[in-house]
Amino acid sequence: MKSWKNSHNGSLFNGKTFGFTGPVLGLIAFVSLVWISCVTPDSVFRMPPDIPDADFVGSEDCLSCHETYFTSFDATPHADVPVHHEDLESIGCEVCHGPGSIHSDSGGAYDTIINPRKSPSVCFRCHAEMRGQFHLPNHHPIEDGQINCSDCHDPHHGTATTGNLNFLNRPEDATCLNCHPEQRGPFVFQHEAMREGCTICHDPHGSINAKMLKERNSVLCLKCHAQELNSDLRIGGLPHRFLMREGTCWTAGCHEAVHGSHVSSSLRF
Ligand code: HEC
Ligand code: HEC
Ligand code: HEC
Ligand code: HEC
Ligand code: HEC
Ligand code: HEC
Ligand code: HEC
Repeated sequence: MKSWKNSHNGSLFNGKTFGFTGPVLGLIAFVSLVWISCVTPDSVFRMPPDIPDADFVGSEDCLSCHETYFTSFDATPHADVPVHHEDLESIGCEVCHGPGSIHSDSGGAYDTIINPRKSPSVCFRCHAEMRGQFHLPNHHPIEDGQINCSDCHDPHHGTATTGNLNFLNRPEDATCLNCHPEQRGPFVFQHEAMREGCTICHDPHGSINAKMLKERNSVLCLKCHAQELNSDLRIGGLPHRFLMREGTCWTAGCHEAVHGSHVSSSLRF
């Protein structure tokens, strides 16, 4: 703040110097913009949960009793979430389970460590934007415990990339189908879109649209079927301009079997 004010009143804006400070200020603005845009995407807060009187001990401490959880933990995005702690660079397991000194010293006494399966609030501490998604008008019922973050995200395995930790991105990975077997098929007439996975059409956490759809109208389908568009919205050989006014592609009585059909190649029923 101060330096900005100084330069405003000072020589930078006077006489000759102005000629080159314009570009210089521009450069500063540009550099700050780049800097800001590099820094702000890390919007995930880092607030590991707290347990009264307990301190962080680091993942190594958990290894002796919970070896099975370590097989591929190092490759998960939570393995080295940095924290501000005088002795530890990262806390690994305790990112979600909270400081483990009491639990560890007591040899695993009951109720000395957090199990996030019981509530998503631990995850929401850092993934605050997810709390919002689960409060959209149509959402997976996470708050009343019918479904849990770990039904879809395996916190202990999986590589660091988004696509892989969210291991259910493709139908062959089948996580959605565990709970929604009606969409499994095989159908006599498959909808090729299903190859892209459920999340090409559905938001997995929540959405303002019915059935957690990514779009509320035909835009959903035109994302893939628009390449054939022309003045009379010809799709699959049939002009769709007037049909589109009847409702969405799947509610107008035309393509109600969006996931696949046993009777109709145009996914009608
Ligand atoms: C000295 C052995 C020991 C150490 C060290 C240890 N635990 Fe445990 N832990 C246990 C035992 C025993 C249980 C109870 C297991 C059971 O009943 O199934 C347990 C249970 C748990 C549970 C389930 C709690 C619940 O309420 O469901 C979690 C989570 C857990 N440990 C995490 C950790 C983490 C994280 C660390 C490292 C900070 C750690 N443990 C270190 C022995 C240990
Ligand atoms: C991203 C958050 C997260 C991290 C990091 C994490 N866990 Fe977990 N942990 C969970 C969740 C969620 C559950 C409950 C669901 C489940 O069992 O998968 C759980 C459950 C457990 C349990 C109890 C299983 C039971 O009996 O209910 C143990 C023990 C455990 N974790 C140990 C560890 C150890 C050891 C590490 C580090 C190597 C670790 N966790 C890292 C989220 C995490
Ligand atoms: C019904 C399954 C499901 C549940 C339950 C679920 N997620 Fe997800 N989540 C996904 C899928 C699928 C993706 C990948 C989204 C994509 O690729 O479009 C994802 C992506 C994410 C991402 C990456 C950011 C993003 O938007 O791509 C975070 C963080 C996340 N989930 C956190 C959570 C937390 C925290 C919970 C529990 C409060 C949770 N999820 C519950 C399925 C689920
Ligand atoms: C202490 C903070 C913290 C807690 C608690 C936490 N996370 Fe994370 N999580 C992170 C950070 C940091 C990342 C890496 C973010 C990034 O690189 O964009 C991450 C990444 C993720 C991703 C992958 C996102 C992607 O784009 O690949 C998912 C999914 C996720 N967390 C789910 C969970 C779930 C489920 C829980 C609760 C069991 C949880 N997290 C608890 C901090 C946390
Ligand atoms: C652990 C079980 C479970 C998993 C896994 C799961 N769901 Fe769900 N899903 C539910 C429950 C429970 C509901 C709420 C059902 C209700 O209210 O009738 C629901 C509702 C839905 C709905 C809205 C249904 C309606 O009638 O409004 C859609 C769409 C949906 N899930 C898609 C998905 C997708 C896509 C995935 C994978 C990313 C997925 N689900 C994974 C349990 C699950
Ligand atoms: C091409 C887009 C698309 C894909 C891909 C897709 N869905 Fe849907 N899904 C829809 C539409 C559109 C609806 C609304 C249908 C309606 O209201 O009649 C729907 C509705 C649902 C419902 C609500 C039940 C019902 O019949 O109303 C569930 C559950 C569901 N989908 C799960 C899934 C699962 C699981 C997958 C992945 C295996 C998936 N969907 C893939 C478009 C899609
Ligand atoms: C992810 C891309 C994608 C999305 C989104 C998508 N589709 Fe498809 N759809 C395809 C592909 C690929 C085919 C097979 C090739 C073709 O016929 O164009 C197909 C085929 C079809 C067919 C069969 C055409 C025939 O006669 O064989 C119908 C009907 C259809 N889609 C309707 C829909 C509807 C309705 C929606 C919106 C709910 C939708 N599609 C969303 C990719 C998509």
